[in-house]
Amino acid sequence: MDLGLQGKKALVTAASRGLGYACAEMLVREGANVIISSRSREALEKAAARLRKVNPHVEVYYHPADLTRKDEVDRLFDFVEEVFGGLEILVYSTGGPKPGRFMELDDEDWEEAARLVGLSAVWVARRAARLMMRQGWGRMVFIGSITLIKPYLNLATSSIMRMPLLGLVRTLALELAPHGITVNAVLPSLVLTDRVLQLARRKAEEEGISMEEALQKMAYEIPVGRAAEPEELAALVAFLASEPAGFITGTAIPFDGGRSLR
Ligand SMILES: NC(=O)c1ccc[n+]([C@@H]2O[C@H](COP(=O)([O-])OP(=O)(O)OC[C@H]3O[C@@H](n4cnc5c(N)ncnc54)[C@H](OP(=O)(O)O)[C@@H]3O)[C@@H](O)[C@H]2O)c1
Repeated sequence: MDLGLQGKKALVTAASRGLGYACAEMLVREGANVIISSRSREALEKAAARLRKVNPHVEVYYHPADLTRKDEVDRLFDFVEEVFGGLEILVYSTGGPKPGRFMELDDEDWEEAARLVGLSAVWVARRAARLMMRQGWGRMVFIGSITLIKPYLNLATSSIMRMPLLGLVRTLALELAPHGITVNAVLPSLVLTDRVLQLARRKAEEEGISMEEALQKMAYEIPVGRAAEPEELAALVAFLASEPAGFITGTAIPFDGGRSLR
């Protein structure tokens, strides 16, 4: 199937590693030009070099931005306008909020999480929408979490502060549909990235078990019996960002191996 991504202009946030990077790599393989962003210039430089090797025929740029800071989000989009003169695809990922149970977290943790997984999506979506409306075509894909469907006790910030993402996706899908722009979210549960390895380490410490056992225990709760690979999520995201996905909007698709059914 031709996804129609050849030559498209895409921005992927939180893309120096993990899910964001996997999505950027998939878009680059499909011939899209990409700008990647995250906080660390050094990590971005390395990620951009890897992407250029994956497909030397596309344009790859990077720009550092901390998504918890609106001024940095604005500067990122100034860069997008300057370099691309427009935007057709947005893939939004972000950092993982501090893990922990509700009563373990302090005011600062909650405010940080609200900016990291809540407000940042609004700031990014608003600037992306302006650019896409000018072109009369666009695809926004937000990477959220399965905690939007099923709360996890030790991921209280994620289970609570991500909730606005659902409202954002549904509201924007309605508002932007007449402009040829679709807006969707994907909700991963367990995908093998640095973030998940960090959570497994915490579980191992808490329960006095090995990393391997912790990962096995985390996957045990998933009906398909394993964690996902980042490329599997990236394939779904690339489809939602594609030409043929034009009739899919306002959805939040669980990517959880059946986990939320239990
Ligand atoms: N992997 C999973 O199974 C899973 C499941 C559910 C939800 N999620 C969510 O999906 C998102 C991505 O997870 P991941 O597994 O890809 O995590 P990861 O491997 O830890 O990667 C996180 C990425 O976010 C960037 N980042 C962190 N804080 C940032 C900030 N304030 N502003 C801009 N970029 C920032 C990091 O780069 P810098 O350090 O350079 O900023 C890095 O590129 C997270 O929100 C996570 O909670 C993941």
